[in-house]
Amino acid sequence: MNNLNDDFKVYSNRFDTQFIGKTIYYYKVVNSTNTVAKNLIKNNIDDGTIIISKTQNKGRGRNNHSWISPKGGIWMSIILKPNIPLDKIQYLTLIAGISVSKTINENFNLNSSIKWPNDVYINDKKISGILTESHITNKSVNYLILGIGINANNSKTDLDLDLQTSASSLRDELGYKIDITNFLNKFLNKLEYYYNILSNDEFNKILNDWKSLTNTLGKIVEIKQGPNKIIGEAYDIDDNGSLIIKEDDGNFRTIIAGNCTIKN
Ligand code: BTN
Repeated sequence: MNNLNDDFKVYSNRFDTQFIGKTIYYYKVVNSTNTVAKNLIKNNIDDGTIIISKTQNKGRGRNNHSWISPKGGIWMSIILKPNIPLDKIQYLTLIAGISVSKTINENFNLNSSIKWPNDVYINDKKISGILTESHITNKSVNYLILGIGINANNSKTDLDLDLQTSASSLRDELGYKIDITNFLNKFLNKLEYYYNILSNDEFNKILNDWKSLTNTLGKIVEIKQGPNKIIGEAYDIDDNGSLIIKEDDGNFRTIIAGNCTIKN
């Protein structure tokens, strides 16, 4: 299938946000909404445009993993053109995770938390993951694609067998289906709120909110970076959003990226 297939609809002003989600490209099926977003950007697309698809054939996760994307889930990419220094780019990833987690906690009787940097968990099961892809030239961010996957009205039984013990969905946790449009409206407003905070350089507010939602700090974690493993206590995140690990020998290491697993 071609990523820019003709089978899509464009909607405007469906949500009450200022700019995020003002324009929506809605597909029935794509390979990956992030790949569609990357192609659309060539057409000088508006800041805040979102791409949503009912299903993805080749959903992509972090660290080259695939992302199973059955009907009922929220598979979405948001195109942003932030005016932000390169060393603060990780904040966009943090605010996406905060916004997913807060939207869940404020609208349902659920207590989600964030595993560094931005996986959202409920009852130790992954509900949502975020794949951020950016285009950088001359040390400045041209555009950024926030690819957000949320197991919403799909059931974990729609996922691969090996994921069924480590993942869940809002529907499975709640016992009923959610109103996706209403959820998206709340989520996009939350993201826009944090995006404005970020644009005002209020980095501490974002770090504090992230810290109030995370399940990672204080835990022993294993970070995989390709063939390398780093094990230690997740001590803090620094003011670039990187994870600080305290190793057994008392040394501190700063982790910009990697696959984080909580050991206790
Ligand atoms: C992760 O590995 O946790 C990140 C998963 C990101 C999945 C989303 S679904 C929408 C967008 N399109 C993709 O192909 N991936 C992201």
